[in-house]
Amino acid sequence: MLSIKENELLTRVGPGTPMGNLMRQYWHPIAAAQELDASPFRTKEVRILGEDLVLYRDRSGQLGLIERWCSHRRVNLAYGVVEQDGLRCQYHGWKFDHTGTCVEQPFEETVHPDGRFKEKCGVAGYSTKEAGGLIFAYLGPQPAAEFPMWEPLAWDNVVRDICLTELPCNWLQCQENSLDPVHAEWLHGYFGNHYRQLEQRYEPETMAKMNMAVEQLRQFTHQKIGFDVFDHGVIKRRVVKGSTEEDDSWRVGHPIMFPNILLVGSQFSCTLQFRVPVDDTHTYHVSLYTFRAAPGTVAPKQESVPARIVPLFDEQGSWTNLEFTFNQDYMAWAQQGPIAERNREKLGESDKGIILFRRLIRDQIKALQEGKTPMNVFRDAKEASYVRLPLENVTFGVKHGKRPNYVPGEAGWSADQSLIEQTLATWDTTEFSREAEGIVLT
Ligand code: FES
Ligand SMILES: [Fe+2]
Repeated sequence: MLSIKENELLTRVGPGTPMGNLMRQYWHPIAAAQELDASPFRTKEVRILGEDLVLYRDRSGQLGLIERWCSHRRVNLAYGVVEQDGLRCQYHGWKFDHTGTCVEQPFEETVHPDGRFKEKCGVAGYSTKEAGGLIFAYLGPQPAAEFPMWEPLAWDNVVRDICLTELPCNWLQCQENSLDPVHAEWLHGYFGNHYRQLEQRYEPETMAKMNMAVEQLRQFTHQKIGFDVFDHGVIKRRVVKGSTEEDDSWRVGHPIMFPNILLVGSQFSCTLQFRVPVDDTHTYHVSLYTFRAAPGTVAPKQESVPARIVPLFDEQGSWTNLEFTFNQDYMAWAQQGPIAERNREKLGESDKGIILFRRLIRDQIKALQEGKTPMNVFRDAKEASYVRLPLENVTFGVKHGKRPNYVPGEAGWSADQSLIEQTLATWDTTEFSREAEGIVLT
């Protein structure tokens, strides 16, 4: 349980707040490159950490992320005109470059050719970086932290897929879910099965298979959970019924990168999940799926990484698509309310990771206030250029010599489904059967 004041400390992210200052030390994804390039204006309205911005790619290919409202008379620059070297306001033609500097004011310059008015008319501009089909932003003080190239962002010989959604709740309850292993057997096992029965969307044969899967999930009961702080955040460990501390799920575990990222997966594919605060009561959720070709094989060529918006609600505004694991998570997080009432909760043994994580956040807020560099902020370019992460060797079907089929983690299907299936099929080799047990993502 937290006091109301402590809850506010950890959840308020606007400019000048302690948590907002901490969040501004990190790079966050703000868009998929494909959605920006597909937009007719080559712009995207972005809201992050309570700030309204516009992202654009100019005709030279340079990305710009600047304040959304024109400094002249505050029109929305998302409808501006992208030019060779900047974004021109649609209303009276003032032009801004990617740093937010006002570089042209046509009528002012006509009347006062030597005037210096435009020097006072810049807007905020932020650093951007493209990686893995995503566009990331840094909103903190300069010099910017180095961009951490998490290893799945750096891999080649892969096919990727991106899912995007905006959730009507604060970022922290989304991230706390990653410190809460026990929800898996209930939300994804018990509730997931309940929902499938309710919906009866499936043929009896498919239903029988799902029931078998649920039987397996029932055996996936947690016996022990553990959490360790490491350089980049927290490692989550679990022992489930039938496994021991010798198994990867305890010995290796998988990482939660501070403050708002999760990595999960197997040797076939992995997912980076980013929980980006839009403002105090909304979260931009980005899932980046990376499917790897088997060693010694070549992944099909992917022109660009497809991105889709995950459908959350039906026509009545109720949560739907709850047969999908991530949709189950999204529903549960949002159903804790716009900002979970942590002053009224009753934490038990299953919540010890959450308690540790909240303490870690408070420690990092304090460290920043004392002028120290908070954890997981990179200052060394070489170190940031490829960041290895521990990841358990989840075996799924491997023991049976079978790799999984493509099933989306969240509602909708990838536009590159066939490329993903071709990539997964590269594991259908005799070498794979022999080697699979020994392959560990590190
Ligand atoms: S409002 Fe943008 S130039 Fe006038
Ligand atoms: Fe979950």
